[in-house]
Amino acid sequence: IKDQGLTSIADADDLQTLNDIRVKLLGKKGPITSALRGIRDLAVEERPVVGGYANEIRDVLTEKIEQQKQYLEDLALQAKLNSETIDVTLPGTPVRQGQPHVIQQIIDQVVDLFIGMGYQVLTGPEVEEDKYNFEMMNLPKDHPARDMQDTFYLSDDILMRTQTSPMQARTLETHDFDAGPLKMISPGIVYRRDTDDPTHSHQFHQIEGLVIDKHITMADLKGTLATMIEQIFGSKFDFRLRPSYFPFTEPSVEVDVTCFNCMGKGCDICKHTGWIEVLGAGMVHPNVLRMANVDPDVYGGFAFGIGPDRFAMLKYGVDDIRDFYLDDVRFLSQFNRKG
Ligand code: PHE
Repeated sequence: IKDQGLTSIADADDLQTLNDIRVKLLGKKGPITSALRGIRDLAVEERPVVGGYANEIRDVLTEKIEQQKQYLEDLALQAKLNSETIDVTLPGTPVRQGQPHVIQQIIDQVVDLFIGMGYQVLTGPEVEEDKYNFEMMNLPKDHPARDMQDTFYLSDDILMRTQTSPMQARTLETHDFDAGPLKMISPGIVYRRDTDDPTHSHQFHQIEGLVIDKHITMADLKGTLATMIEQIFGSKFDFRLRPSYFPFTEPSVEVDVTCFNCMGKGCDICKHTGWIEVLGAGMVHPNVLRMANVDPDVYGGFAFGIGPDRFAMLKYGVDDIRDFYLDDVRFLSQFNRKG
């Protein structure tokens, strides 16, 4: 029994077989158990001999079974480890990487630049009060210049903001001038009741800028714009200030940059002027300061409103603003920041 048992244990090549062998050899119906059970039928002097022998065999077999079990378990673990090895040299499954929207990329560039110049970045509500969007921007209720910006009204006093300029009023109202000058930039979405076409969208972006301190001049405005335009478009592009009108700035200017298409020579896109308008700006109107409780005899400064959609169109030669809003990945993935 012993030798046979040891051989069959050594031959067991999986845990299930080993367990079957254990039951057969050492179980209730096995030879050892029945030998021990038969002891009471033996003569008294034979009992310890047979009992001792049976116990010895049982111990030997039990130990051998334990060893074999350990061995089989190690083997199974090793096999599992081998089969689960990761081959790090295999090529991986490519993961499609997204990127910020092209207009967001332009906004990020402009905002980063102004952060570097010490401006704070503020955002404001798109659902705005008439008071901030128009009245405090020197556009009283029946001012004709309200027609310059066709407006989505939600009620008599609430509207979808037509410009980010209400952030001028909101910031002026709360800024503590004893703590230092006001330099802020405010990117966001604005809305106009325009019919969408290649150059109009009922929803687009603006970045408002406002600087108010004691001795700010138009030269500061020009220098600031020069820095920004060079940063975004590169030094190949020139710019000019052209006299214009906004109710909240005086004097007001529109800023043109070299036409991206003809580089100043004149083409259909720039109506043969060689220039394309990219932003509005000017020196903040005293009424705007007064309405926000800032003394125009002490403080003054400049404001500007950038159109990032326009910037993106010019920079990349996109001729239909609607392309930015159709979310066609084939179009948008062209503008990969990394190259
Ligand atoms: N808010 C003006 C517009 O939307 C742009 C502007 C901003 C002009 C600030 C002057 C100063 O057309």
